[in-house]
Amino acid sequence: MVSTYSILAQEDPKFSIARFGKDVFNGLLRSKKTLSSKYMYDKAGSELYERIMDLDEYYLVASEFSSLENSKKQISEMLKSLPFNLIELGAGNGAKTKVLLKQLMEDKRKFTYIPVDISEDAMQGLVDALNLEIPGLDTKGLVADYFDALDKIKQQKNGKHNLVLFLGSNIGNFNFQDAVNFIFSLWSSLNYGDFVLIGFDLRKDIDQMVAAYNDSHGVTAKFNLNLLERINRDLGGNFDVTKFKHYEPYNIKTGAMESYLISLEDQDVYIENLEKTFHFERWEPIFVEHSFKYTLADVEKLANITGFRIENHFYDDKNWFLDSLWCVKKGK
Ligand code: AVI
Repeated sequence: MVSTYSILAQEDPKFSIARFGKDVFNGLLRSKKTLSSKYMYDKAGSELYERIMDLDEYYLVASEFSSLENSKKQISEMLKSLPFNLIELGAGNGAKTKVLLKQLMEDKRKFTYIPVDISEDAMQGLVDALNLEIPGLDTKGLVADYFDALDKIKQQKNGKHNLVLFLGSNIGNFNFQDAVNFIFSLWSSLNYGDFVLIGFDLRKDIDQMVAAYNDSHGVTAKFNLNLLERINRDLGGNFDVTKFKHYEPYNIKTGAMESYLISLEDQDVYIENLEKTFHFERWEPIFVEHSFKYTLADVEKLANITGFRIENHFYDDKNWFLDSLWCVKKGK
């Protein structure tokens, strides 16, 4: 349970070639082939994802900036009487969080910022940058798995409240049941009265969503195709990526963007580490990732099922993105 959720938008700390090989093997043997998106974030994939986040078409980043701009004063006001920990799961470069951090510092709130990331390098970079950019900020970076980090914080018993940030629509890469499992685990690690702030990308004009995952510079296509290149690099595969095409439609029934790699011809691909040749028919898809887009009703359902009370909904200026603030309920 602990490690399963530590892999969003970053490299899995427990990555092993053996595990990767096993997952690729099982995924490609299925009648409907799949590859797990958790393997997209090797060094090359993480760099491509950084580039995606800079694209205008990938509106999610600007939308969440706007939502945090709109909410920072209210969040700060809510936290005025408490010393608290501000814990961020998957902090990355902390770019969006700085909006909130600067407000909290300006308002002289008593808090410790605890970014949690599994990459030691990313953490060091973030801590150094914050020391320079926000002097006086009490930062205690934790290089850990999400739930190991939460357990550590819970054991501290220092009477501090916690606000956990899970931003960036990372929740969208889980299907609903996995999202329930993840949020419920979060609830179990927290105390009565603690808060979480979760970023949800909302359903919107389909063309807008489709453009975000089919950008005109082809970065998202490269990002997805990198998964095949990674199999070549790490598992001795002989995929010719020019013979596959990135295809990402919106599924109107499930409300998710779905990413596929489509074989452009009848072909065999040998993967040395697996000592196995896989056959791909012309137009056969490999399913890679879904990015669920939420309705307000979905968000409410998720909070209710997992034991949270919704405190506030914060939107960006276009109502495209929601940072939803929830409070932990415990007891009867
Ligand atoms: C990491 N995650 C929130 C991204 C998303 O929007 O689902 C991953 C991504 N895939 C393609 N573009 C971005």
